[in-house]
Amino acid sequence: MSNANPIDLLFGGMEKLGPGSDFDTLKVLDMLPQSPHELIVDAGCGAGRHTLALANQLQMIVHAVDSYQPFLASLVQRAKEAGIEHLVQTHCMDMADIPNTFQQIDLLWSEGAAYNIGFPNALKTWYSAVKPGGFAVVSELSWLRSDVPADVRQFFNAGYPDMRSADENRAVAEDAGYSVLATHTLPRETWVEGYYDILEPRAQGLLDHPDKDVRAFAAETIEEIRVFGCSEDSYGYVFYVMERA
Ligand SMILES: C[S@@+](CC[C@H](N)C(=O)[O-])C[C@H]1O[C@@H](n2cnc3c(N)ncnc32)[C@H](O)[C@@H]1O
Repeated sequence: MSNANPIDLLFGGMEKLGPGSDFDTLKVLDMLPQSPHELIVDAGCGAGRHTLALANQLQMIVHAVDSYQPFLASLVQRAKEAGIEHLVQTHCMDMADIPNTFQQIDLLWSEGAAYNIGFPNALKTWYSAVKPGGFAVVSELSWLRSDVPADVRQFFNAGYPDMRSADENRAVAEDAGYSVLATHTLPRETWVEGYYDILEPRAQGLLDHPDKDVRAFAAETIEEIRVFGCSEDSYGYVFYVMERA
C-alpha cells in the first residue's frame, strides 16, 4: 500500500467512514415493521461500523459489500475482535453488481454510500435484487431547508450538484418502486464524534504532505468540515426506510 494514498492516509484505521452512530443505525432498524428473516446485504459497508451493529443486533449473517479491500479487511478484524466473525461475510465488488450476486434480498442496507453510483440509480439497480415486500434502508445527503447559506450552496454545487431535498428523494424512491415507510435524519453530533473530530486533525497534519493529491484531499476535507460548521442544519444525512412493491 502506497504511503501517498490519500484514502489510507486520511481514513486508515477509522471505524466510521461517514457520519452515523450505532444508536441511530439500531433506531432506524427498529422502524422496520418486521425483522428481516434471511438475506441481509450492506452496500458500501466500508469498515463496517453499522454492519457489526446490525449483525450483533439481529444475530444473522450480514453480507458486507465494498469495492475497497483494505476497508473489508478492517471490518473482518473488528468482527473477530467482537466475536461475531461468523455473522459477517465480505464481498469485494461493485455495489452496482449486487443484482448479479444476490437475489431475493430481505433487507438491503446502505449508509452514506449509495451516492457513489447515484442515489436514483442505486435504488433502481437494487430494486431487482430485493424481494417483493422486502426492505431497503438507504441514507443520502439531502437538503433539509430551502434557505441555504451562500457558501454552503456553493460548496455543494461544486462538490455534489445532484444533491436533492428530502422530499425530492422520497419522490425518487417512489418512482423506483418503493413505498417510503419512514425517514430519519442523523443528529449533528454523529457527524462530529468519531468522524470529523478524527478527520480534522489528520487533514491538518497532511496539508504539507509531499504528494499534491494528498494535500488537495486534506484541504478539501478541511473545507467540508468548515462548511458543516456554518451549515445551520440546511443539509443532513437522511435515512429512507423503504418497502419494495
Ligand atoms: C463514505 S464511505 C461510507 C462507509 C460506511 N458505510 C460508513 O458509513 O462508515 C463510502 C464507501 O463506499 C465504498 N464504495 C464506493 N464506491 C463503491 C462501489 N461502486 N461499490 C462498492 N463500494 C463502493 C467506499 O469504498 C467506501 O467504503
